[in-house]
Amino acid sequence: MQKHLTLIQIHDKNFIPFIDKPQIQNKICEIGRELSNNYQGHELVFISILNGSFMFASDLMKQITIPCEISFVKVKSYQGTSSTERVDELIGLNTNIEKKSVVILEDIVDTGITMNKVYSYLNSFNPSSLKICSLLFKPEAFKGKHKPDFVGFTIPNKFVVGFGLDYNEKGRNLEDIYQLKE
Ligand code: IMP
Ligand code: MG
Repeated sequence: MQKHLTLIQIHDKNFIPFIDKPQIQNKICEIGRELSNNYQGHELVFISILNGSFMFASDLMKQITIPCEISFVKVKSYQGTSSTERVDELIGLNTNIEKKSVVILEDIVDTGITMNKVYSYLNSFNPSSLKICSLLFKPEAFKGKHKPDFVGFTIPNKFVVGFGLDYNEKGRNLEDIYQLKE
């Protein structure tokens, strides 16, 4: 039975239902089929970007019907000496991706700045191909170099939470996606 979705509060903000669990799960099945078709016969490695993509990665993996591997990396951001200077470092890659077909799994591509860094870091290990699969994509906010090749939902430039995405670390556990109420 489907739950009745209502307005929720996280910290100081209200969020309204946006994409429900059945829509998310249907889309993940579609993406799983597409990837399973596209990568037949490839040495396929998924790289899931923590924390946000853990739920997407977990559900998507169950829909992949061909042999594959998965590894998890984390973008560690810390402030440099001045407040404007943000340094991002990717940690945790423990898989050899050289000459393999790599698909990056993200929860959302917003400005694309994070993806610029993730992409060039992974590309430096010489995979045979490097593609991006993101559950959500905000084209209006995008100013990056690498658009996602596989997209679940193209959404407006509004803040969302749920299904792995957080607002100040809360809301990741929600199985539906909610949008900031204005
Ligand atoms: P970027 O702007 O594409 O670099 O996105 C960086 C990160 O910001 C994403 O990986 C998410 O973790 C987070 N983010 C971007 N938009 C949202 C949103 O609407 N809700 C929650 N997190 C977001
Ligand atoms: Mg993220």
